[in-house]
Amino acid sequence: MTDRNWINSRETDTYTYDPGLGNTAACKSSITYLDGEAGVLLYRGYPIEEVASQLSYMEAAYLVLFGEVPNSEQLSKFEEDTSQAVGSLDVEFYSTLTSLFANSHPMLFLHAAVQTLAISDGSFLGNAPLFIGALPMLSAMHARAAAGLEPVAWRLDLPFTERLFHARFGFESSTLSKALDLLLLLHADHEQNCSTTAARVIASSQADPRHVVGGALGALAGPLHGGANEEVLVQLQEMLEHGGSTEEILSEAKSGERRLMGFGHRVYKNFDPRATLIRKAAHDVFEELGITDPLLEIATNLEKAALADDYFVSRKLYPNVDFYSGLIYRALGFSNNEFTPLFGIGRCPGWLAHANEQRSDAEQRIVRPQQIYVGPALRSL
Ligand code: CMC
Repeated sequence: MTDRNWINSRETDTYTYDPGLGNTAACKSSITYLDGEAGVLLYRGYPIEEVASQLSYMEAAYLVLFGEVPNSEQLSKFEEDTSQAVGSLDVEFYSTLTSLFANSHPMLFLHAAVQTLAISDGSFLGNAPLFIGALPMLSAMHARAAAGLEPVAWRLDLPFTERLFHARFGFESSTLSKALDLLLLLHADHEQNCSTTAARVIASSQADPRHVVGGALGALAGPLHGGANEEVLVQLQEMLEHGGSTEEILSEAKSGERRLMGFGHRVYKNFDPRATLIRKAAHDVFEELGITDPLLEIATNLEKAALADDYFVSRKLYPNVDFYSGLIYRALGFSNNEFTPLFGIGRCPGWLAHANEQRSDAEQRIVRPQQIYVGPALRSL
């Protein structure tokens, strides 16, 4: 584990100016370990590569939330609690809500829908099955309504990811659900990213868990965070319309006119281990489905060109988790604007685990940073 020189600024009575908080630790956490220089990501101590190859999304979610891989009894109970929570949702009410939001971005709909969930108490872990169960079903309902499709009866008997897949597409597919399961698992937690930090900040005021999840969804929606997966596809589609050349987009990214979406990371400076797993999964999914997508070739060429360019190499800008994930979602049949909700569905256990940690840590206080005032000095009207 990397050793850093942390000073406790409260003990030393010092203040730091740290825009973006890149050099500031605001909490202690035992959930996820990340070494950006070495490209290491551990969920509760287990390498992401092992978690991805040996566990399901629900097992990984349980691990993130409760600290250990569930045994079969614990897993069944977690699955059962989640499907019971889904069964308790008022389908008629959400049907009306989805039609009201049919023309809105699904992230706006989810943000609103989460506020209406009937939580049992103020606990983050106790309500985890409700949030984790509800988000995919609400998202699937909204996507079908937006596409003018009839809602499908929810299959509560199916395991989590297959249930999500069926609710969205109206048929079962264990192969496609498996690919989706991996993507959700790779998003389950990522320590102090923007949306998780938002969740912690909101939890620190002792707000209701619905505000915590809603606030996290809001932070995730932005194009520099979870919204990047949708933007990557927009960028690739634009490149396809312009003949697939990488030159123009790279030169615009280098001149600062735009960002190369799906590239760069605050913490990873060598490679993002999730991107490595997703790149391979993308190629596997296309091969298994026997389909091709010209965007995959464009993405591969763009990655190659960027990694051979001094601008990206010198700034240590590598493909991140969002670069290839959208291509897989697209191959599975999802629309571009469903990619960020899928990120949120996957990340929900992380938000809840961190909110729980924030509230359970006796050292924590309400988050209330300092500022450096640069406005006018005292004056009179
Ligand atoms: N394209 C072009 N230049 C970039 C990019 C990019 N994608 N990312 C960073 N840079 C440049 C930036 O202009 C700056 O250059 P200079 O030093 O000359 O001013 C340098 O690299 C450092 O950038 P930064 O903005 O200080 O880096 P950051 O750590 O604040 O931002 C980031 C991290 C992920 C927001 C950023 O890399 C970015 O905007 N990437 C594109 C959006 C994206 O893919 N987001 C998903 C992130 S991973 C999943 C998630 O957390 O949601």
